[in-house]
Amino acid sequence: MSGFIHEARSEAKPFLFVLAVVAALGGFLFGYDTGVISGALLFIKPAFHASALQQQAIIGSLLVGAVVGATAAGYLADALSRKWTTVLSGCIYVGAALWSAVVPGTTELIAARFLLGLSVGTASFVAPMYIAEVAPQRIRGGLVSFNQLMMVVGILIAYIVDFLFKAVAGNWRWMLGLGALPGVALVVGMVLMPHSPRWLMERGRDDEARAVLERVHRREQDVDNEMDDIRRVVAEKGSLRDIIGAQVRPMLVVGLALAIFQQIVGINTVIYYAPTILRFTGSTVSSAITQTVFIGVTNVVFTTVAVLLLDRFGRRVFLLVGTVGLIVSLLALGVFFASPAVRRAVPDLALIALIAYIASFAIGLGPVFWLMISEIFPLHLRSPAMALCSVANWAFNFLVAFTFLTLVGALGSAGTFLLYAAVGSIALVFFATRVPETNGRSLEEIEQQVQRKHRGKRGR
Ligand code: BGC
Repeated sequence: MSGFIHEARSEAKPFLFVLAVVAALGGFLFGYDTGVISGALLFIKPAFHASALQQQAIIGSLLVGAVVGATAAGYLADALSRKWTTVLSGCIYVGAALWSAVVPGTTELIAARFLLGLSVGTASFVAPMYIAEVAPQRIRGGLVSFNQLMMVVGILIAYIVDFLFKAVAGNWRWMLGLGALPGVALVVGMVLMPHSPRWLMERGRDDEARAVLERVHRREQDVDNEMDDIRRVVAEKGSLRDIIGAQVRPMLVVGLALAIFQQIVGINTVIYYAPTILRFTGSTVSSAITQTVFIGVTNVVFTTVAVLLLDRFGRRVFLLVGTVGLIVSLLALGVFFASPAVRRAVPDLALIALIAYIASFAIGLGPVFWLMISEIFPLHLRSPAMALCSVANWAFNFLVAFTFLTLVGALGSAGTFLLYAAVGSIALVFFATRVPETNGRSLEEIEQQVQRKHRGKRGR
């Protein structure tokens, strides 16, 4: 545990932590929205007599907005800067959160949630990208994963807000509107933050970049080294077409596979439908909601473990161990639902398996996906490549959320979880054979390593 804290103390300055926390408010907004709607929907439904289709649209419009937002942000993060793109996304968020709290009907709510989606889709990858570009290499994993930590804290706070406001008049309006507060914090905080040094150097603003790096590193030598590294990579200009070119393709495959696997192991069915899954096991509504809070707490605790240890033991070990945990817990859920004898013998197995599942995701695929996509792409393609991976992640989030209940109808709960376990096994093989270790290397070294590997392959 002491690794990250020790490194942080000896290597970084408090400014870095303020910067990571402020940027990671983007992750908080992402998590708050993901978590808040499950509870709010229970009250929106009777208030607007919302049909099943309208309810799906209320949830889905955010995800569709996020796909669009992430696409646009790939361009904006370069053209407008990481900093101002995040500020813009925060402003949209505040406006849309307030609007969603006062909407007169479902159509307006769907539109407001689309706007919220634009904002969280943007922030979802511009925040980790910005942090990765400012952080010193040795604590980059922990700092970038602050974003995932804030995301799961956002989910937990949303569950708690839902719980606290459930008996208050106009409850769902409060639940949705309160999201404006962290939105304001993101806007104000980011206005005060500097630009990413890598973005500055791409524009020839080296003096400003040096000033930022001096706030981050203790030794002048480290500043010089890092500037040299960035300069070398900035000089290797390429075009957007390179993104599908042979040079970057292996990394794009890794990024997209992580993005897609992260969703198709079913994480958001647990986040969105935990109370529903627990109800399948025979829990009452009220104990299902309490148990859901347990799941939120587990997510926060294990993400914290990942933040503290990712720079010490590397990314791969967490990814692999976490994925094994996912498979085992999904198998346990499958067996629980398939066998009445098991249900009688171990009635708590479903809850235990759900908690093990969340813990496994939180130490592995959850943070590692967002971290790795901020590390593996060359600078000149980082924004569009990260955008592409984020878009894939949001699109599959949407797909899984919308097929879950249908899948349960068609395959039963047991069949659905066993299917996710099978997907997890394919993911494990892919991760073991194709995902590189990025710990302990500068972003520029990772880029050069990928290129060397590729040239080696072509040479053969
Ligand atoms: C995923 C989200 C998910 C969250 C849950 C993130 O890494 O991208 O889709 O809701 O983790 O912890």
